Amino acid sequence: MTLVIRGGTIINADASRRADILVEDGTIRAVGDDLEAPAGAEVIDAGGQYVMPGGIDPHTHMQLPFMGTVASEDFYTGTAAGLAGGTTMIIDFVIPSPDQALMEAYQTWRGWAEKACADYSFHVAVTWWGDGVADDMGTLVREEGINSFKHFMAYKGAIMAEDEVLYNSFCRARELGAIVTAHAENGELVYQLQKKLLAEGRTGPDAHPLSRPPAAEGEAANRAARLAEVIGVPLYLVHVSTEDALDEIVRARLAGQRVYGEALAGHLLIDDSVYKNPDFDAAAAHVMSPPFRAKLHQDALWKGLQSGNLQTTATDHCCFCADQKAMGKDDFTRIPNGTAGIEDRLAVLWTHGVNTGRLTKEEFVAVTSANAAKIFNIYPRKGRIAVGADADIVVWDPAASKTISAKTHHQNVDYNIFEGMQVTGLASHTISQGKLRYANGDLRTHKGDGRYIKRPAFKS
Ligand code: URP
Ligand code: ZN
Ligand code: ZN
Repeated sequence: MTLVIRGGTIINADASRRADILVEDGTIRAVGDDLEAPAGAEVIDAGGQYVMPGGIDPHTHMQLPFMGTVASEDFYTGTAAGLAGGTTMIIDFVIPSPDQALMEAYQTWRGWAEKACADYSFHVAVTWWGDGVADDMGTLVREEGINSFKHFMAYKGAIMAEDEVLYNSFCRARELGAIVTAHAENGELVYQLQKKLLAEGRTGPDAHPLSRPPAAEGEAANRAARLAEVIGVPLYLVHVSTEDALDEIVRARLAGQRVYGEALAGHLLIDDSVYKNPDFDAAAAHVMSPPFRAKLHQDALWKGLQSGNLQTTATDHCCFCADQKAMGKDDFTRIPNGTAGIEDRLAVLWTHGVNTGRLTKEEFVAVTSANAAKIFNIYPRKGRIAVGADADIVVWDPAASKTISAKTHHQNVDYNIFEGMQVTGLASHTISQGKLRYANGDLRTHKGDGRYIKRPAFKS
């Protein structure tokens, strides 16, 4: 398929220019002025619009089996919703059960993801340590194109990695030239606070943020960063939600460590008042970890993005419908943790980042696409509009606006945490692998069109 995108302004993370783009066989073949459209080529008129690398969401959980249920969004519906919002690639998570072989879990997730309609990759979680884990990590890096290993420092009694696991896994990742990533919350502290709150009769969703105070995140961020410092491995902290954790990133970076941080669209825009809603369904719909925080933390996260101390944005897209959230009606610790956002990330970041002057358009591209591609070693194949790059492109209409609603979104979940938010700046066209997959409200996706993208290790 040949496609020409004409008349737009191309925005890359480092520069912008007015130019046309010629796409052939899934790849960007030419970028230049007044490009001829070959016979039969589809032409997209991008006049008055921006043309940017498609969004990369480096943190999603499609159809994740979690807390006694399974996330409602599967790899097809989730990647389709992403395309509707301008996101053309996800990095999801393989999460082995404790004692399950990493390779077995990896093959399971690969099978589930075959129905994806946009490109995808995986971080693999190390949830335990024992025979075979180090070997499987080697196989994953050398043969399967995995270069990032995830560690949950929370969820005690389920997938939490104790310090011994962190130490062994960080050492092995360093040997293999991989990056380690962490969900930073002190899981023991969270567990003890949950027990205390329940004993006091605090069973509702308003107790959820009390059980996960900012200090629990700051402590774990410090521990992960200090371990990474001693072991000498790069570290990426997922869903940084507090000033406390950001301070640890800044400290480590100033000390010369390669430590990166990710902010979620939700944490940037929603505060902890949502847990005070007396309507259980509404409050429970916001239960995720780390929780939404007091406003001062949102300000800190925006400054983190502006200063470059936080490099990426993601969604942690992990959907549960009201009937699933109801599992925790009498006990907030049983509410499945997770919220959605893959479809809305770009629009809310444009609206609250670019339109407010907090971010330049180039910085927007950096934090929604290019930086994730760089940190996870798929740049410039992804994350850049340039000759030779994959044709994963979003044509962005800065004048288009809509009101976000669960009634109209494509995400397979009955609630939208951004419900009622007016956004200005929307994807008009999304191109994935050189094919037009979304055009002005019309989704043209097919199950299985997504490809598994290998990400090489950081040394040969
Ligand atoms: O609440 C969340 N974030 N659910 C998904 C699992 C995780 O911690 O990322
Ligand atoms: Zn997490
Ligand atoms: Zn997550």
